[in-house]
Amino acid sequence: MPELTTLASPLDVGGVRIRNRVFLAPMSGITDEPFRQRAHAHGAGLVVSEMVASGELAKGRAGCDLRIRHSGLPVHMVQLAGREAAHMAEGGRIAAGEGADIIDINMGCPAKKVTGGYAGSALMRDLDHALSLIEAVVGAVAVPVTLKMRLGWDESALNAPILARRAEEAGIKMVTVHGRTRCQFYQGKADWRAIARVRQAVSIPVVANGDVGSPQEAAAILEQSGADAVMIGRAHYGAPWIAGSVAAAAAGISAPGISETPRALADYVVAHYEDMLSLYGIESGLRQARKHLGWYLDRHAAGVSAEQRKRVLTSFEPAEVILGLRDALADIGMSNELRSAA
Ligand SMILES: Cc1cc2nc3c(=O)[nH]c(=O)nc-3n(C[C@H](O)[C@H](O)[C@H](O)COP(=O)(O)O)c2cc1C
Repeated sequence: MPELTTLASPLDVGGVRIRNRVFLAPMSGITDEPFRQRAHAHGAGLVVSEMVASGELAKGRAGCDLRIRHSGLPVHMVQLAGREAAHMAEGGRIAAGEGADIIDINMGCPAKKVTGGYAGSALMRDLDHALSLIEAVVGAVAVPVTLKMRLGWDESALNAPILARRAEEAGIKMVTVHGRTRCQFYQGKADWRAIARVRQAVSIPVVANGDVGSPQEAAAILEQSGADAVMIGRAHYGAPWIAGSVAAAAAGISAPGISETPRALADYVVAHYEDMLSLYGIESGLRQARKHLGWYLDRHAAGVSAEQRKRVLTSFEPAEVILGLRDALADIGMSNELRSAA
C-alpha cells in the first residue's frame, strides 16, 4: 500500500507532469482563479477549474470565459459538465483552444440543478450515455482527458469500477473517485475502502477524494484505497494552503508560504479579497468574496464579535470590509491551526 511519502512524487497524466500528488478539488463558486493561484503557490500538485457547463460554453454564454481562461499556472486543467456529446466535444475544443493541458469530465456533481439536467453524477445511471460523452471529448481534443466520479448513484448501484474500466478503454488518463454515492450527497463519511475497487479495476492513476484535510487523513485514505493521489476540497475553506501543507508533510519539509503573524494573515486575506474584486468587479466581487471572508473569520478569528463579523460580511464598501478584516484578524490573532502549520 502506498505511504504518505509517495504523495511527494510527481505523477504522469497522459504525458503531462504533475509536480506532486496532493490536489485541490474543483469546487464551483469557490476554486476560481484567485483561489487556485493561492493553492498552487502553497504547493498543491494540481488545481482544477470550477466546472463549466459545456452547453453554455458551446453557446458562448457570459461567465464561462472566466472559468476556462488560462491562469498562467504550469498545468491548466478545465472541468466540463454536460450531457450532450456535441456540446462536450465543442466545450473540450474551446477549453483546449484556451490552453487547457488537461480536460476533466464531471460525473460526480450531485446537485439537482445538474443531475436534473441529467449531467454530473446522474450520468452514472446510464453508462452507455456516459461513455458517449467521454468518447466525444477524447475524440475532440489532443490533450489528456480525465474523469471525476462518485462510487455510484446509490448503495445498490456501486458501478464506479465498471465506469472507470470502460473510461480507461475509451482513452481516459486518470480517474478521481469521491467515496460517496450520489444519494449520500455530502452526508455520512466517505468510504475510502470502496475506492480500492476502482484502483483494482484500472491501470491509469486513481485519485482518492472525500473528507481529507490533514496528512494523517491523507495517509489513511491512501492506505485504505491504494490510490495514487489524493484530492482535497472543503478542508480548504478559509485555508487555501491545505493541499500544499499535506504535500509538504509528505516531502518531510515545513509548509512554505503560510502567514506567520496575525498581520501577515490579515495581509493575505486582504490580498485575496482584492484579487476577487479585480477579477469580478466590485459589485459582484464583494458578494462572491463574502463566503471566503466568513470562512477566514470562522477559522482564524472565531472569537470575533457579532458586530465586527457583520461589518465585514454585509458592507458594500470595500474599504470598510478591509478595515473590519484587519481589526478582526489582528485582534484575535493567529489560530492554533495556523500556528502549528507555520
Ligand atoms: C461547494 C462545492 C462545490 C463543488 N463543485 C464541484 C465541481 O464544480 N466539480 C466537481 O467535480 N466537484 C465539485 N464538488 C465536489 C468536490 O470536488 C469534492 O469531490 C467533494 O467536496 C468531496 O471532497 P472533500 O470532502 O475533500 O470536500 C463541489 C463540492 C462543494 C462542497
